[in-house]
Amino acid sequence: MYNYQDLLNAGLKAAKIAGEILRNGYGTNFIIESKSEKNDLVTEFDKKSEIAIIDFLKSQYPESDFLAEESGLSNSDSDLRWIIDPLDGTVNFAHGIPIFAVSIAAEYKQEIVCGVIYQPLLQESFTAIKNGGAFFNSTPIRVSNVHDFSRSFLVTGFPYNIARHGRNWGEHFLSIVRSGVPVRRLGSAALDLAYTAAGRFDGFWEIGLSPWDVAAGILLVKEAGGLVMNYEGDEYSLGNDSIIACTPSIYQELSERMN
Ligand code: IPD
Ligand code: CA
Ligand code: CA
Repeated sequence: MYNYQDLLNAGLKAAKIAGEILRNGYGTNFIIESKSEKNDLVTEFDKKSEIAIIDFLKSQYPESDFLAEESGLSNSDSDLRWIIDPLDGTVNFAHGIPIFAVSIAAEYKQEIVCGVIYQPLLQESFTAIKNGGAFFNSTPIRVSNVHDFSRSFLVTGFPYNIARHGRNWGEHFLSIVRSGVPVRRLGSAALDLAYTAAGRFDGFWEIGLSPWDVAAGILLVKEAGGLVMNYEGDEYSLGNDSIIACTPSIYQELSERMN
């Protein structure tokens, strides 16, 4: 059994260590490579950030397992597993766009128990503990209280392999844009979820995300009073191919547009 606040403190410290690395690297000349999709980039700072996070968490909890974007899965059947995106928004970072974050979640016995999303340039931290609420820096946050879908403000994203994706993603997007609802595409799913938890956005939808993109963010949205579902209408679980995260009052109308 772990003290979840201690896990969160360790995750936040790791995110701040990584954030300093990213802050110092942002805007410098660095190595950029393509992954399996040519526009899915990785920089030397994704790797440096991930190494620093794992080193710190291992120093605090040596028994930890990890699921981290750049180094993959380490599995020793520990009850404690950290799910890490060391730099969410790599394409932004690589192009000098200041929208990116570090995302770290802790799972205990396969349940997400705390999550941290840290925006290094603004030094904004979004944190949540299972059954303990969600916070912006140290202030409690709630999802927005918009009631009318037509007055909502939404955010989405598109996976790098979207052309091969089976879902009717183009129609979903168009149906919302046609309704006149303002939609943003920030390029960081972690920030999309953190901002939804904080009520800055009213809702978010996307397909094809990976566990490290969303593990911290889904806990944040839920602890802030939001819903996190898949397009089939079930509660979202890690590994699902579609996600809708929003303030409850607009869920019905948002989800109908994904069918
Ligand atoms: C990406 C971002 C983006 C989302 C992509 C993700 P990365 O993560 O979260 O918003 O649309 O699907 O892969 O590659 O910057 O860590
Ligand atoms: Ca990511
Ligand atoms: Ca990443």
